[in-house]
Amino acid sequence: MSEAKLRVEPTSFPGVFRSGDMLLTQNLTPGRRVYGERLFDQEGKEYREWVPDRSKLAAYIRKRGSFFPFKADSHVLYLGASSGTTPSHVSDLLTEGRVYCVEIAPRMFRDLVGVCEIRSNMMPILGDATKPDDLAFLVERADIIYQDVAQKNQAGIFARAMRRFPARWGMLAVKARSEDVTKDPEVIFREAAELLTKEGLTVREVVGLEPFEKDHAMIVVERE
Ligand SMILES: C[S@@+](CC[C@H](N)C(=O)[O-])C[C@H]1O[C@@H](n2cnc3c(N)ncnc32)[C@H](O)[C@@H]1O
Repeated sequence: MSEAKLRVEPTSFPGVFRSGDMLLTQNLTPGRRVYGERLFDQEGKEYREWVPDRSKLAAYIRKRGSFFPFKADSHVLYLGASSGTTPSHVSDLLTEGRVYCVEIAPRMFRDLVGVCEIRSNMMPILGDATKPDDLAFLVERADIIYQDVAQKNQAGIFARAMRRFPARWGMLAVKARSEDVTKDPEVIFREAAELLTKEGLTVREVVGLEPFEKDHAMIVVERE
């Protein structure tokens, strides 16, 4: 059951709504929560709160990120899906599209499968983001690659995936502490952006995600 009524307004990003500072997506599976988020009704539609402390994509929007390539019919390759928190909001956006959710840890994957079972546009893949060739036969098309793996060499892993799949857009969540705890996070973000530029990708934006996520940035790239 939804908790309360509130005034929900569209944002300039398709499928993303707001009520004051709160971000929301329209729930593809009314009455079902994924991570304890609040549900709200308005005019016969149900919206899920999109919590920026729990989702780097929501944090990117709250930090006024200006690129949002997701469209209703996009196909998204999501590397590092964990138990499906952010992928479930991406799933809300893709009413005619699909999100391929790649996760390496069996325990997280079990929870992810539970979310995918009730969301027909989410495909769970137990796999390794560092081996995009192994994923290719399961991924029909990728318009956007979104990566949040929190392991070493995040930009290198992402670059390899962008090489393997001809996605026009990429969004890379970088956790500085996964690279080098002794290094200034700003240097790590700059080096990641430089690596992607050397790959021939255009870096559109690097957005720090504090205070929602400490020492994290979202890098948005486009293939021109
Ligand atoms: C920070 S969590 C992702 C959270 C998720 N993106 C969200 O916002 O809901 C990082 C996840 O990446 C997974 N991961 C790490 N290395 C990976 C790899 N090589 N391939 C696939 N998943 C990986 C971890 O097991 C973990 O579940």
